[in-house]
Amino acid sequence: MKAKEILQKGKIIPVMIIDELQSSVELAKTLVNSGIEVLEITLRTKEALEAIKLISKEVPNAIVGAGTVLNAKQLESVIEAGAKFAISPGFNATLAQEAVKNDIAFIPGVATASELMNALEWGFKELKFFPAKLAGGVAMLKTFASVFNEVKFCPTGGISCENMNEYLSLENVLCVGGSWLSPKELVLTKKWDEIATIARQSLALISK
Ligand code: 3PG
Repeated sequence: MKAKEILQKGKIIPVMIIDELQSSVELAKTLVNSGIEVLEITLRTKEALEAIKLISKEVPNAIVGAGTVLNAKQLESVIEAGAKFAISPGFNATLAQEAVKNDIAFIPGVATASELMNALEWGFKELKFFPAKLAGGVAMLKTFASVFNEVKFCPTGGISCENMNEYLSLENVLCVGGSWLSPKELVLTKKWDEIATIARQSLALISK
């Protein structure tokens, strides 16, 4: 699947931090059963790679990808674990080269015009805008739209169901990502019903 297709399918993408392998499957099932198929497992814990493998196997309807991919070696390992896409908070040439070599849907992160131009030079047109709120939010994306009209974004960082529609209503935004869909406290206490409610309510609130 191409990056654009995945992001269009995603609309709201949970940024997931996995602390317990077994409950990661429950979490993924909860999200998928609530209507959220595209899942970003961040490489911020040692469980992340195993979670990508396990969820890909146990939750076949999920489109499982990796987040917080910081270097080429990590990209290699998430591809090996079966990730369908990879997201990075930033951009560098070695990471870009590895992504092109492996033909994986790769979504690099940008926050400035120069970073964006680097990503474009490598052929990446679907980008993460990070950290969205701090890097200028909706106003920055509107400015990017008039300068870089071929680029589409997945903003993340400081987004929740309260402000997601401000972003989603923009022409150059395909989807938004955020940790609000997978709250640490509710995951640790295995409150799957509450997580399902957040997911369903968030989906119902999408106005685009
Ligand atoms: C990310 O990696 O996309 C962010 O950490 C998510 O930011 P949030 O916690 O503000 O949603």
